[in-house]
Amino acid sequence: MGDLAYVHVRTKDRIAVLVIDHPPVNALDEATFKDLDAAVRGAQADPAVKVIVITGTARSFVAGADIGYLSEMATSEDAEGLAQSGQELMLRIERSPKPIIAAINGRYCLGGGNELAMACHMRIAEEGVEFGQPEIRLGLIPGWGGTRRLVHLVGLGKAVELILTGDRIPAREALQLGLVNRVMAEGKALEEAMHMAAQLAALSSEGLRLALDCIYSELDMGLSEAMVCEVQRFAEMACTYDKCEGLSAFLEKRRPQFEDR
Ligand code: COA
Repeated sequence: MGDLAYVHVRTKDRIAVLVIDHPPVNALDEATFKDLDAAVRGAQADPAVKVIVITGTARSFVAGADIGYLSEMATSEDAEGLAQSGQELMLRIERSPKPIIAAINGRYCLGGGNELAMACHMRIAEEGVEFGQPEIRLGLIPGWGGTRRLVHLVGLGKAVELILTGDRIPAREALQLGLVNRVMAEGKALEEAMHMAAQLAALSSEGLRLALDCIYSELDMGLSEAMVCEVQRFAEMACTYDKCEGLSAFLEKRRPQFEDR
């Protein structure tokens, strides 16, 4: 897939980079949202792609849903539709069989932008980024999965504080809370994300898929069901070529050559 109006797609070395480009701050209006949705679907369906990176342009990762777009919500049906379509995209990202890394650049990762980042499997942020769920200050609440995912990532107490106050926090605090995985110097998030993506692209896509499937489907399960799920995925992985290759390579003291089967 090539460029869309508001999302540029570059695929190289089995890594697709989706760059959201909607100046000035990458607010997600309807057109940008649709382009992001199409770009994610395209990368997920592309057999040449093993890992996906989502990033923004220099000024902002994503400053949230577009407030003009939100202000067009006239009825409860409009609002339900907007929340549901956002949740579907976030779930498509979270439940992606291919790892998705957010390279959070610029200054803002707010509202729907933070919900997008949280739906990704890992988050690498730049030093100057501010994070938050400011919806409450607009007379709204998060609607794209933020109330659930923020609790999972930072714990109940801090999630309640961030959602009820709408306060913004700096990247270093986001790191301490577990909201992001790594913090880099300004301008370096994408480089680090590409590094991590290359590391994942060298592994077995079956291993990545099955590990993600276990981790995320188990969120909906109790302990005993989750353990059954893990046994099944473990056994599935143990029947792959890549399992034989990984173990043989270790014993033969060489680098494994995974074939994604
Ligand atoms: N939707 C639509 N436009 C937005 C926007 C959003 N979420 N966030 C910022 N913008 C626009 C501003 O209206 C402004 O447009 P203008 O230049 O035509 O006046 C431009 O982006 C720059 O914003 P500005 O406020 O001047 O820049 P800033 O650096 O001082 O502050 C933000 C940037 C992002 C912190 C601030 O604009 C803000 O708080 N935005 C709202 C964020 C939000 O609530 N997101 C959640 C939505 S659910």
